[in-house]
Amino acid sequence: MDGRDLVRSVKVVKAVKAIGVIGAAQGLRTVRSAWRRRRADSAGLPARGAERARVPGPVTGVEPGPGGGVVRFAQSELRVSVTGGGAVFWGWDGAGPAPSYALVDQSPEPDPRAELEPDKDGGWRVVSERVMVVISRHGAVEVCTPGGVMLRRELPPRWWEPVGGGPARWVQRSEVASDARFFGLGGRARGPRLRDGEYRLWNTDPGGSFEPGDDPLYITMPVQLVVADAGTHLVFHDNTWDGTVTLREGEEGAGSGHDRAGGSELRMDGGPLRCWVVVGTPPRVLQAWTALTGAPAVPPAWALGHHHARWGFGSEKEVRRIVAGYKERELPLDAVHLDIDHYDDHQVFTVDRQAYPALPRLAADLGEDGVRLVSIVDPAVKGEQGNAVYDSGRAVDAFVRDARGRQVRGVVWPGESVYPDFTAAKVRTWWGGLYEERLGQGFAGFWHDMNEPVSFAAFGEPTLPRSARHDLEGRGGDHREAHNVYGLCMARAGYEGVRRLRPDERPFQFSRSGWAGMQRYGGTWSGDVATGWPGLRASLALVMGLGLCGVPYSGPDVGGFDGSPSPELYLRWFQLGAYLPLFRTHASLRAGRREPWEFGPEVLEHARVALDERRRLGPYLMTLAHLAHRTGAPYVRPLWWCAPEDRALRDCEDAFLLGDALLVAPVLERGSDRRAVRLPRGRWYDTVTGQAYEGPGQVLLDAPLSRIPVLARAGAVLPVRGADGGVELEVWAPARGRTGSGLVVRDGGDGWEVPPVERYTSRWHEGRVVVERDQEGAEGVAVGVEVPVAVRGLGA
Ligand code: GLC
Repeated sequence: MDGRDLVRSVKVVKAVKAIGVIGAAQGLRTVRSAWRRRRADSAGLPARGAERARVPGPVTGVEPGPGGGVVRFAQSELRVSVTGGGAVFWGWDGAGPAPSYALVDQSPEPDPRAELEPDKDGGWRVVSERVMVVISRHGAVEVCTPGGVMLRRELPPRWWEPVGGGPARWVQRSEVASDARFFGLGGRARGPRLRDGEYRLWNTDPGGSFEPGDDPLYITMPVQLVVADAGTHLVFHDNTWDGTVTLREGEEGAGSGHDRAGGSELRMDGGPLRCWVVVGTPPRVLQAWTALTGAPAVPPAWALGHHHARWGFGSEKEVRRIVAGYKERELPLDAVHLDIDHYDDHQVFTVDRQAYPALPRLAADLGEDGVRLVSIVDPAVKGEQGNAVYDSGRAVDAFVRDARGRQVRGVVWPGESVYPDFTAAKVRTWWGGLYEERLGQGFAGFWHDMNEPVSFAAFGEPTLPRSARHDLEGRGGDHREAHNVYGLCMARAGYEGVRRLRPDERPFQFSRSGWAGMQRYGGTWSGDVATGWPGLRASLALVMGLGLCGVPYSGPDVGGFDGSPSPELYLRWFQLGAYLPLFRTHASLRAGRREPWEFGPEVLEHARVALDERRRLGPYLMTLAHLAHRTGAPYVRPLWWCAPEDRALRDCEDAFLLGDALLVAPVLERGSDRRAVRLPRGRWYDTVTGQAYEGPGQVLLDAPLSRIPVLARAGAVLPVRGADGGVELEVWAPARGRTGSGLVVRDGGDGWEVPPVERYTSRWHEGRVVVERDQEGAEGVAVGVEVPVAVRGLGA
């Protein structure tokens, strides 16, 4: 047992104790399964013997091709190409963009104008409109702005090849500017700014609940967003294997000329060395990134409301009691999520008929009050004949096998379980069909869990053996390559299945694990965030970091997953959650209550304000969802989104922009009723007091228990829900002599129609603020239209 194993075992024991649902029999299974896993790997994976190191060596020639070409070195070759969208690709040892689980289009069009040309000192370069790539004669690759300012330098890589054959390990070191800041790498509780340290690339259920220090978590991605004075870039090493990224921020010598560059080091256990880079402003970078990896799915309108979940409602009666509790108190509620306790004996795609005798009836009754039912879906299938899912899966050879061809058995909630191999198209099709049962029960959305994938283990890693075989779209391979995309492929299976079954509706799905590109199928949530103030902070870090990796829809378990939050902590979490894309209260089986009325009358009244405001902002959130789909811009953005050159904003981690119009400053500390808020340039109104503040700079704002500071940008035009339930425009007065604007996408439903983007401008005219819609085709001429408008901020 190594150190990591020990830490994990302690966590498993803690988790078991905390949850108390793993009985003695299950405990024994986790021991057996851990031994099986170890045995499988010692038999199924070749031991690492002697290795030979290799570097590219000196350049020997080139072969121009579309968008770039191939540069040959003595011991490797590098394929470089710039795509039409301005993204740069390069791959060593002949690696091309395909096959890739991240890319939406397996062969992005090269930019016909980008050409390979000789550079100084025997190197080569590719120049395009947005970026210049310089390849040194020893294989360093620099990405520069078209003006020649260096954004990133990747040093020549180094491989270690097993003498007896097999996958080569490799390392790639890079340098960035001394002022650069790192973000991304998937969902990191330590973020959003990723400080010096090691970050592992291996999707992991931390067991129990996690704190900001826990890493890695459920979603890891080799995606770094790097922000520096010289420009912003995103770098993606398209490789699904286990690895680590070590980051080191640079240091500036305060004008002494002794700046130290920032750096990162990527070490991978195998897989191709290939890389994508996109450069530009943050909005441009996210646009290019989601053009490569897919547009974020637009959730149905109801999924932008308030969700209430719980592990352990226990019965239909309790669900009805909770829903009635919301209704009696006139608190908005849009969805209720049923966890694994509604299954028959924890088996996926079944129902405990005693506790839930008539689920379709329950769904219909809730539907009358506008409340949807969402179902948890776990990938592991109880490995027992007679279980219909197991039997039908066996019939299509759906389950992962080991190197000797036997079913891999792990342990999850239902006991000994088998795992669908979602990397096989036929398995995805079979699995997607199973959602018919769920839809028949009345469920309207799906919550994918335990898909890192998890197998409880008394020691060692709580997942499948690395030697387990996977289809990998017919190429064949093992779990070392498939592990990190298991959740992504499950998301695809569910999404495509539900689309086939309900072609007229946009699926609603979110998944605990995933990888680059997962936004195509839906969102995610924080997973089991520990109840406590650090967990509250981590909740925001996760949402912001994932948004910068192209996954804009997520949110935490409001109140934290375990234990019992104090009324104050619960309220602060609730107030933050109300401004995040997924607004869901959820907690573990043994955790305390999470209903807003369980924390006393004062908390209830303040929570009501947050819930009402969430509902009022519904049309704005829907607009942000459509904009995320079209442009990749996350709903929740760091304050530096439009001013990455502002270093103070770059370091601000405790506030965020919700779209263009709002700045939200949650309270993340116990006992505070004021907080400092850093403002980007321009005028900002406190949305409650109407008081105007001028940015850039820092202001101290009141944050009584009743609310967190939310500011509106002067000139902003945003759609909100009016008193009659229709959409009205809220306009914040521009500063005198200035104009403002806003975009509106109207969509109250869950279909596939593509609503137009309406553009509005606000300006002062004869002492009044007027709002006009820019009519398409009118060559930029603004034409006034009749729209219900509420102008605010006039008194400032
Ligand atoms: C996992 C999930 C959690 C869920 C529990 C039981 O811990 O992250 O949200 O409640 O499993 O299904």
